[in-house]
Amino acid sequence: MTPPAPATTAGTPDRTTVDQVIEGLLTQARSCRVTDYFIGGSDSFRVDRATALAFMRLVSNAPDLAFHARAFTEHSVGALVREHGIRQFVDLGCGLPLHSRRNVHEIAQAIAADSTTVYVDNDPLVLNHARLYLRTDQTAVVEADLADGLHPILEHPKARALLDPDRPVAVLLCSTLETLPDEALPAALLADLPSLMPAGSFVVLTHLASADEHAADRASALMRQQILGGWGRIRSHNEVAALVAGLSLLEPGLTDLSTLPPPAPAVRTALRETGPSPVTVLGAVARLDPSPATRRRAAARAFGAHNAAQLGYAAVATGTVQLDAIHPACPRLTLPDALIKTAPPAGDPR
Ligand SMILES: C[S@@+](CC[C@H](N)C(=O)[O-])C[C@H]1O[C@@H](n2cnc3c(N)ncnc32)[C@H](O)[C@@H]1O
Repeated sequence: MTPPAPATTAGTPDRTTVDQVIEGLLTQARSCRVTDYFIGGSDSFRVDRATALAFMRLVSNAPDLAFHARAFTEHSVGALVREHGIRQFVDLGCGLPLHSRRNVHEIAQAIAADSTTVYVDNDPLVLNHARLYLRTDQTAVVEADLADGLHPILEHPKARALLDPDRPVAVLLCSTLETLPDEALPAALLADLPSLMPAGSFVVLTHLASADEHAADRASALMRQQILGGWGRIRSHNEVAALVAGLSLLEPGLTDLSTLPPPAPAVRTALRETGPSPVTVLGAVARLDPSPATRRRAAARAFGAHNAAQLGYAAVATGTVQLDAIHPACPRLTLPDALIKTAPPAGDPR
């Protein structure tokens, strides 16, 4: 039978393009589907499962690590809502919606019904599924490449509509950092958080790590070769510690999650009998202490200040910033009278 001719009408997808997309789906693994397979989901294809099994030949406890990471994420989301009053989440590299476990907004809203969640990813499949299964009045799905930093995400109209800039946010980077190559600047992503997030915000992260550089390199190379769009790498403990070095970690600090009791029965296979795995998964929750710039902005908002001078004065008046720390461009002598009269003395927490 003759195959149908490619459609050329505007708006109708070209048959070749559709074929390429479908072929791409079936022949190239994706990190979201490999992870989904490890935690018992049903959204993987043969190519993802083959990649998962090849990875397990090098990292025999990979499913356990995925379970540990997910359990830590779920626990941390619950604890942040319950114990720290967090009501806003930004899930960076959210992955496929989970049907066998609860997604971030479901965990948060079960504890505090007014919680909101922004799901972020750059994988078309994740975005399609997320729009189908995760979109509600209190969630948003944002397409963004983390390599472009956080600004485009926070400035995205959907994120702006959902997030209150005056209330703290919990940023999730769970099982995502190892999928980012060094060129995507994962360190910069973390370093930028304190200055971009409102006071009282947190970050939750998990990261595959290894003390065995050779084993980590082999496993990372396999993933980079197999995963569509590339992958990052399994970093050393010291490298992961360096990523969070500037943050105030909550107890117990950066923890080897694989030393915790198993959170759920992981997939047991004969491969697990091949010996101890060289890879672990580290996790941490950190408070994002606001940078001076964030505190200046918050102080300025409190005063309704609109220019640099007012902003600097408001910061000093509230005791949030030392006078000499203010930007030299701030013309102290031209402060508006109205502001000087209404500004409270230093130390007044207004
Ligand atoms: C292993 S999954 C993690 C899923 C989920 N966060 C979890 O805890 O299970 C990593 C996700 O990060 C996404 N990702 C990788 N690189 C990205 C990038 N540069 N920008 C946005 N998302 C990215 C992938 O598409 C994938 O969905």
